[in-house]
Amino acid sequence: MLFVEMICPNQYAKTNGLQRKNVEDTSKKYMKNMVWKSNEIILDIGCGPGDITSDILYPLLKNKINQLIAVDKSLEMVKYAKKRYGCSKMDFKVLDIENANDCSFYSNKFTKIFSFFCLHWVHNKVDSLRNMNLMLKSDGEMLLNYLFINPIVELYKLMDEEWNKYIKDVKQTSHVSYSLDELREIIIKAGFRIINLESSVKKYTYSDLPSLLNTFKAVDDVYNFLPQDLHDKYAAHVKEKVCQTQMIEISPITGRTTLMYIPITVHAIKD
Ligand SMILES: C[S@@+](CC[C@H](N)C(=O)[O-])C[C@H]1O[C@@H](n2cnc3c(N)ncnc32)[C@H](O)[C@@H]1O
Repeated sequence: MLFVEMICPNQYAKTNGLQRKNVEDTSKKYMKNMVWKSNEIILDIGCGPGDITSDILYPLLKNKINQLIAVDKSLEMVKYAKKRYGCSKMDFKVLDIENANDCSFYSNKFTKIFSFFCLHWVHNKVDSLRNMNLMLKSDGEMLLNYLFINPIVELYKLMDEEWNKYIKDVKQTSHVSYSLDELREIIIKAGFRIINLESSVKKYTYSDLPSLLNTFKAVDDVYNFLPQDLHDKYAAHVKEKVCQTQMIEISPITGRTTLMYIPITVHAIKD
């Protein structure tokens, strides 16, 4: 089975304006409601290139923490993040949240878990939530923020037949999407008490369509399998399909391009 893995840290970090805005708003809103002690030990799951961990999460946490460990299953991302942002209180490690072995190393270690824009890439959410529970101390809190519908996976479903051989594995790996009620149930089964679970349609405006397409490209794993000489043709096809969907609106006057997206935010406590 092929797993979607974003392997270009630099490109991702240049195109993640939507993610940065969301993480900042969500963290500020929810951290106020968390119970804070001194010497917190924090985990950030799916940190990617680490810029959000370092620029947004760390400044909000630095007076409260002993240690912030940020993890990602991509070695490339972790190497990039560690080199740029590693410091005495903030470290970056490779960890696959779906892998119980990886996670058992951190049993009962963390007082808080954060995860931003990662869970919509995770295939087995049931195991991942159990692993998060395992790694939290009791009374520890978690804040998850991710996309209810993964726009890239939706896009793959619309692509013409000729691209199937490059995206077939991605398409076959069914990204099970849970309804909010199902999600509530699996979070509770994993051993959490839900404080808040919310989801609503949001909009983010890019300066133009190419900027939005660059954001998509930065997380589109198909480029890692596509022969170089097909990149432009594939990009043109993606553009055509994106424009046919209801997910964007382009201003006919300014060209500014608005993306509709649906984040889910979960704040829960290990019972
Ligand atoms: C879109 S990036 C998010 C980066 C950052 N947290 C942000 O908010 O911009 C998603 C990251 O999740 C990572 N990821 C996907 N599946 C994962 C898993 N099973 N375990 C750990 N990390 C995973 C990917 O490698 C990728 O770097």
